[in-house]
Amino acid sequence: MRLRIAELRDEVLRHDALYYQEDAPELSDADYDVLRRELVALETEHPGLLTSDSPTQRVGALPAEGFDTAPHRSPMLSLDNAMNADEMRAFEVRVSKLLEHPDGESSSIDFVAEPKLDGSGIELIYAKGVFVQGLTRGDGQTGEDVTVNLRHVPSIPERLAAEDPPEIASVRGEIVLPLAAFESLNASRVGRELKPFENPRNAAAGSLRQIHDIDFERLGSLEFRGYSLAEGCPAELDRQSQILDLLGRWGFIISPEIETCHGVEEAIRFHEQLLSARGDLPVEIDGTVFKVDRIDQQETMGTLARAPRWAIAFKFPPEQAETVLEDIEVQVGRTGALTPVARLRPVRVGGVTVSNASLHNQDEIERKDIRIGDWIMIQRAGDVIPQVVRVRLDRRHESVAEGRRLVRRALPSQCPVCDSPTVRLEGEAVTRCANLDCPAQLKNNLRHLAGRSALDVDGLGEKLVDQLVEAGLVTRLSDVFALDEDSLSGLERMGAKSAANLIAALERARETTLPRLLFALGIRHVGQTVAELLADRFGTLAEMLAARPEEVAAIEGIGPTIAESVSRFMADPSNREELARFGELGLVLAAPEEKPSGEDVPPQSLDGLIFVLTGTLSRPRGEVKNSIEAAGGKVTGTVSRKTHYVVAGEDPGSKARKAADLGVEILDETGLNALIAGE
Ligand code: IVH
Repeated sequence: MRLRIAELRDEVLRHDALYYQEDAPELSDADYDVLRRELVALETEHPGLLTSDSPTQRVGALPAEGFDTAPHRSPMLSLDNAMNADEMRAFEVRVSKLLEHPDGESSSIDFVAEPKLDGSGIELIYAKGVFVQGLTRGDGQTGEDVTVNLRHVPSIPERLAAEDPPEIASVRGEIVLPLAAFESLNASRVGRELKPFENPRNAAAGSLRQIHDIDFERLGSLEFRGYSLAEGCPAELDRQSQILDLLGRWGFIISPEIETCHGVEEAIRFHEQLLSARGDLPVEIDGTVFKVDRIDQQETMGTLARAPRWAIAFKFPPEQAETVLEDIEVQVGRTGALTPVARLRPVRVGGVTVSNASLHNQDEIERKDIRIGDWIMIQRAGDVIPQVVRVRLDRRHESVAEGRRLVRRALPSQCPVCDSPTVRLEGEAVTRCANLDCPAQLKNNLRHLAGRSALDVDGLGEKLVDQLVEAGLVTRLSDVFALDEDSLSGLERMGAKSAANLIAALERARETTLPRLLFALGIRHVGQTVAELLADRFGTLAEMLAARPEEVAAIEGIGPTIAESVSRFMADPSNREELARFGELGLVLAAPEEKPSGEDVPPQSLDGLIFVLTGTLSRPRGEVKNSIEAAGGKVTGTVSRKTHYVVAGEDPGSKARKAADLGVEILDETGLNALIAGE
């Protein structure tokens, strides 16, 4: 008993830390509750074993939502980006126009050049010179109140070194974790068998958001650097450079590299110098921020909803690194698509260790003449997804050049998972496994079916799907509704409670709607929108099954490829049998749920932003699209200069490359979630 209690305490603590400190939960809320309840029950039964350090004894228990939030005194804005010198020149033209500078006189505009610190934006409030509150950026309007943690950051003065401090000062800047501290923090984490942080930015953000069992050493190694004064600026100061000096006198760290540049060409030169000094700096930076120095000019230019017109972040080009391509492995996706994945000798690039990169498809491998054993250049586009830029032909080993070594360049003619033949249709870049019952496809299809926008089977996660398929309990999708507590009990690590939870979740999922079911089936090209169009047109599953191909093709918004795919699916006898079986196993279709009207929506974090999704995301695309739209953003299909962000999952395709070419920022899902959360 004692052992079980100790084990449960460790588990609960570990999952608390994963959830609150790492933002990387491994358990669903329901599974976490099961653990916690078991612990509480045992402690209640055996009060003698209850100790004050048990996670059940924390004062106030777990706050439901982490930190309190508080509004910023004025919005914390973002910055527009320039990706190259021409975009900087275009910025200067805009500035000159707004300031009505005649051509040729723009050299008289002064820009303050500051390193773009790669950390977390923070607002510090000082009342009569005393630090009273610190907020994260949040959604720009409201932030999380992390004052208690910020009080342990040595470079945040408790009091301003000012004789006559303003009534209220709002000092803004960045919390960073210097590289040396990052290294030692990670060494100590590894010593304690904790997962090391991927990069200083994540480590800084994670440290700031510690909720309990706070590690003061971690907070002590953070550094705050000031870069603006949103309130409390003495009237006599009329330049950004003077504000930075004042912040320095008040006791804040100001980046020592800061300089004032006259005109854009000087700014570009500064940026190049900063880029070459980047590797020697004690903190990570990802570009230069240029701000019009004169405050009166800033005021003339004004500010848009998202970012000021008088400032720009000139980003560094994606970091590149060289490494060896050790192998090419093949993954099988939900649609049976075979994707070649480069296994790399691990290498640090753009702040993370990269050991895989997508090679997209066969054509890409051939076009770039990529061979196993080659030295290749890789980069993280938008500092997110690793891409193979090119092969270093000059470093190609003789044995590779002559093909004496194993050089697997072609995708296999047999599926690496089920050994069935693979096919590559004419005109398609993709090679697929033709076996619809391929376990790899089945697993992916089952994950898709359980997804929130599909049948929403709570608790049917990645691992359980693998177990169900591998144990032979699910050999086709409908089998999931034939599961019962008995059949589940044979699975490893499946307790009676978890089994009962899954059965209950399946019971809830049995009542669904036609669009959800159509989406859940994983019919090629049928996303949520198409599923809704089909459901709107046909109303019932029987009508859908009776639909003639030309009726499907006539639906507005459905093109010939989608129509063909839908009709082919519906005509296939095994699919029809599968649909009938869903019904026999209790699936019922209710009226579709009402959509929110969209009226009276308060301003949201993604207002006005345009997104493009690419690659395999951890959630169904429709779901990701919904979250973006729910936060006010828009999702389109093609990348253009108008696109604000490309969200890339695993194995992103040409859209990610196009984004990199156009300088459109690429986000991974964590980045997207942070953006939605307004971080
Ligand atoms: S000024 C209105 N200066 O970059 C001005 N931001 O992409 C807004 N950042 O959210 C910020 N270094 O967290 C400014 N020297 C610097 C900066 C900086 C890093 C961050 C900041 C902001 C983000 C915008």
